[in-house]
Amino acid sequence: MSSVTQLPASQTARLDAICASTSIIPVLVIEKLEHAVPLAKALVDGGLGVLEITLRTDCAVEAMKQIREALPQATIGAGTVLDVDQYRQCEEIGVDFVVTPGTTPALFAYAANSEVPLLPGVATVSEVVTGREFGFRRFKFFPAEANGGAKALKSFGGPLPEVKFCPTGGVTVDNAADYLALPNVICVGGSWMAPQSLIDQEDWAGITELTRQATQRYPR
Ligand code: 3PG
Repeated sequence: MSSVTQLPASQTARLDAICASTSIIPVLVIEKLEHAVPLAKALVDGGLGVLEITLRTDCAVEAMKQIREALPQATIGAGTVLDVDQYRQCEEIGVDFVVTPGTTPALFAYAANSEVPLLPGVATVSEVVTGREFGFRRFKFFPAEANGGAKALKSFGGPLPEVKFCPTGGVTVDNAADYLALPNVICVGGSWMAPQSLIDQEDWAGITELTRQATQRYPR
């Protein structure tokens, strides 16, 4: 019997339900608050309803609130959560899930008791094994391409057959196919359908078109 706090299986099931509803989770860096809702709408219109909004910009929290209000059908994940204080802030906003780029035992322990499920970031087998001790079975593999890509994840499947991943970081419309073909990949994350250049130009139709191309190629 493990002595550390264990994540309830129901949280893994909730994450599975979120990831099963999409093949791709767009990872968004929102620099200007006025871009939040049109950007999210462009992605939802293109067929992607699960969004990761990173806490990398000053307006990220307000952006999540506005998107929640304007697009209640969207599933909102807070990304780039780096510590327990930020996790608490995301719980208060009422996001649907939290994503970390890397994960400490303190974050695993906090998330194991939270009502808001965590997709914890890992880059190595040892980090997966640490998360496993807390009951986690679903992880974000980050940065995926820089850490060996689909080949690495295929190898992770040998010792960790029950663990599944959302690879993110360097995933493109083309290499997504290699990841999504693996039995231990539940969905992928990426920013290619919402490039900063199109956001800066406020080319929402262009983002919807890139999103549509992605969802047509990788339907759920
Ligand atoms: C990130 O957290 O920056 C995401 O992994 C996005 O990576 P990408 O821009 O390489 O898709």
